[in-house]
Parts: sequence; C-alpha cells; structure tokens
Amino acid sequence: MEIVICKDKAEASRKAADMIAKLVKEKPECVLGLATGSTPVEMYSCLADDVKAGKISFKGVKSWNLDEYYGLPATHDQSYRYFMNANLFDKIDIDKANTHVLNGLAEDWRKECADYESQIKDAGGIDLQVLGIGSDGHIAFNEPGSSLASRTRMVYLTPQTIQDNARFFDKASDVPTSALSMGVGTICEAKKVILLAFGANKADAVQGMVEGGMSQYCTASALQAHNDAWVFCDEEAASKLKLKDFYAWRSEIEMKG
Ligand code: GLP
Repeated sequence: MEIVICKDKAEASRKAADMIAKLVKEKPECVLGLATGSTPVEMYSCLADDVKAGKISFKGVKSWNLDEYYGLPATHDQSYRYFMNANLFDKIDIDKANTHVLNGLAEDWRKECADYESQIKDAGGIDLQVLGIGSDGHIAFNEPGSSLASRTRMVYLTPQTIQDNARFFDKASDVPTSALSMGVGTICEAKKVILLAFGANKADAVQGMVEGGMSQYCTASALQAHNDAWVFCDEEAASKLKLKDFYAWRSEIEMKG
C-alpha cells in the first residue's frame, strides 16, 4: 500500500485525478469502479475540468459503482445514482448507458447482485477502483464484521454509519438501514485501487487500515494484500500513522516512477 500524504484535500484530489486521467489516456476503454460520499467530490471536479479542457475523454469508459442504498429510487436526491449523475456523469462526456449503479429497488436483490458481478467480469474486470473510507474503516458498505472474501450482496448499516450519513438526510431515521454493496473480495480484484481519506475523523480508520492487522473489523485493511493500492490523504487523516514520515518519503519516490 502506498500512502501519499498531501498538504490538503485539493492537492490530494488533483494527484488522484491525475492517476485516473493517466489511465483513461492510456486505455480509453477502461473500466472504472466509482465511489460516492463527500470525499471524492473534489477529485470528480478535477476530472470534469480535464474533460472541459479537452485533456481527456470518457467516451469509451465504462463504470460500476460500489454500492446503493436499498429502498431508494434512482431519482431520490440521496441515492448514489443521483449523486453520481450530479457530481460526475452530467459533467463529463461519458455515455450514461455505460455507467452502472446497483438498483436499490431490486426486489430480487440476489439476482441483481449476481448479475452485477457477471457484468464486471464480462467487461474484463475493474482497471481502477476509487474508494473512500468510513470512520469505522469500512469500504463501500462493508461494515465491520464483513468477510474479507465477501461478494456483492445485501448488507446492513451500523449505527455509526447511519449517524455519519444522517447529515445528508432530513433526520437520522430517514437513512436506509440496508444497502446493496460490492464485497471486499469484489473490490480487491480491481487491478488498481485509489482510496481517498480527508479530515481528522478519518485518522483512526486510516491508521487501522494501514498499520492494524488485516481483519474484518476494519474492512479497508484488506487492501494491505493488494499489490497496487494507493491512499491519498491529507495531513489530518494521516495524523495517527506511526510511520508517517517513512510513508511520505517512500511515496515521493514511487510517485516519480
Ligand atoms: C458511505 C459510502 C462509502 C464512503 C463513506 C464515507 O458509507 N458507502 O463508500 O466511503 O460513506 O463517506 P464520506 O466520504 O462522506 O466521509
């Protein structure tokens, strides 16, 4: 795992966007795994700026999103489909037919999840997966206790995540209690992974992910076994890392290569 510690969110978002832009230029028909949450918003703006400036095009790109609240229609302003349209897809030249988000209203959720896995496989697998991290160390909606071998399935949200995400809803009781989510096993099959983490409230999660043991109590820790995983964080999110200076020195060398 490479840890890139940046002075702030703006610098980290730009560096992460550059890594995606490089892939899109090299492989215009690449497959992206995309994430929601407040964390990647600025990085998505950087990519939209690049498209506007004619530096990159997403015309051939296909995407699969990590997760969706179960019970929310795509038209709900807190659904992850709505979020993706508003924060990225409507601002770039991607063909919306090539963008995939799990259907939060799927009655047969087992079929929905199995089909999603098959679609990703048929597309050749995910070239680059974008991730945020929950304050309890979760990735997608793989809450503490999720198997590190898990696949796309129905999951339940912990009280901590419901509380964290309540800020986007009118009240905490409006936050759905379940979701459809790619599994940790699904995520770890991506060829490259970029995880973004900003702010002091992510410091414990980042420390657990990077320096804790690999465990289902911090599902992001599964990335320790990935051979091309990059963490872009700000100083606050990196503040509890014991080997912070070492990572900063090492990533500077790696970023040049
Ligand atoms: C949700 C999403 C995750 C995201 C997390 C953190 O739980 N399912 O994919 O990483 O929120 O969100 P934020 O970036 O707003 O802190």
